[in-house]
Amino acid sequence: MAQPAEPTYTGQRIDTGDKWYQLFQKGVELGTWNVEKLFDEIGFEQDKETWKSLEPNERDQIRYLLSGFLDGETEVAGDAATNLSRAMGADCLEGNRQKEMYMTMLTLTEHKHTQFLDIYMNEVMDDQDNYTELDPRRGTRVPIVQTTGLGEVFEHQGLLTAKAAQTKDPVDIARAATNYHMNVEGILARVGSTAISRLPERANLPLLNYAFKFVSTDEGRHITHGVELLKELLEKERAGEPAYQGVEAGIVNTLYEDVPYMADFAYMYTDAVGDPLDLDIDSTLLRGGNLIDGMYNETLGCDVDYMQVMDRVSDRYEEITEWDLDARLEAQQAHYQQKRGVAADGGDD
Ligand SMILES: [Fe+2]
Ligand SMILES: [Fe+2]
Repeated sequence: MAQPAEPTYTGQRIDTGDKWYQLFQKGVELGTWNVEKLFDEIGFEQDKETWKSLEPNERDQIRYLLSGFLDGETEVAGDAATNLSRAMGADCLEGNRQKEMYMTMLTLTEHKHTQFLDIYMNEVMDDQDNYTELDPRRGTRVPIVQTTGLGEVFEHQGLLTAKAAQTKDPVDIARAATNYHMNVEGILARVGSTAISRLPERANLPLLNYAFKFVSTDEGRHITHGVELLKELLEKERAGEPAYQGVEAGIVNTLYEDVPYMADFAYMYTDAVGDPLDLDIDSTLLRGGNLIDGMYNETLGCDVDYMQVMDRVSDRYEEITEWDLDARLEAQQAHYQQKRGVAADGGDD
């Protein structure tokens, strides 16, 4: 990580030389883009016009992609504000006070990402996948997210971060950070952002594109935090400290558990909808594979078995090719509408 100049002053409780203090400070300085200002400066008009001109299947593909981000940002914001912040206060972590400080920056940016997507989808697109009373924090994800593997990955995130907050055990913290920072932010969000960055070739959506440049920069800092955190835990395991044994196995197994569902979402937003925007499933999966290799093997020095990853992905693919995706999606949409009706009436159950 590029180190900013270290301040010449320090505190008694806060160590200004700590890399998480510096990451916090970077967030204060660089994470200050303002969603409302972006709306004012760029406006919604061009995006609205383009949206109206797209074919229905092109709109579906963009909506599926952004729905994944909308539910994902809502989920990461919620877990960052609660269980992940609690886990960062664990005594087994170095500089846990600075790590907790950094979590406030992470939480703030995740809420801004949700703020952008929610308002953008409501103003520019339509409210089909974006009902405020049914966000994942209230128990229902948007239908495409629940139909595909993203729902499983986010479910796992909730469970792992809750366990890490509860036990504050190094292996549980490593598993939670792997799901959250490596798999959700480091792979899913990065692959999704790459797809969005390619949209201008087919669809001129300047507001979406500008915002995602900021989102990607923010996510870069979050991934740096995750990588540094996992490196710290792995170093202690490799130095033979008893409490940290099992960290690497926990990291690698969390990847194996999540990867079939991560690939599953990629299939759904490309093949299944005919890929009208030419996002290209093969290059999407290749990019995912390269990110896995780069982060897990090269950066963390783990021993991820590539064949095992491919086997798990192809087993899951076999399973889902048997599905009637449209029927599943319709069932989720019916469930969603039903819950919406109950919620909109004030509900009686
Ligand atoms: Fe985010
Ligand atoms: Fe993030």
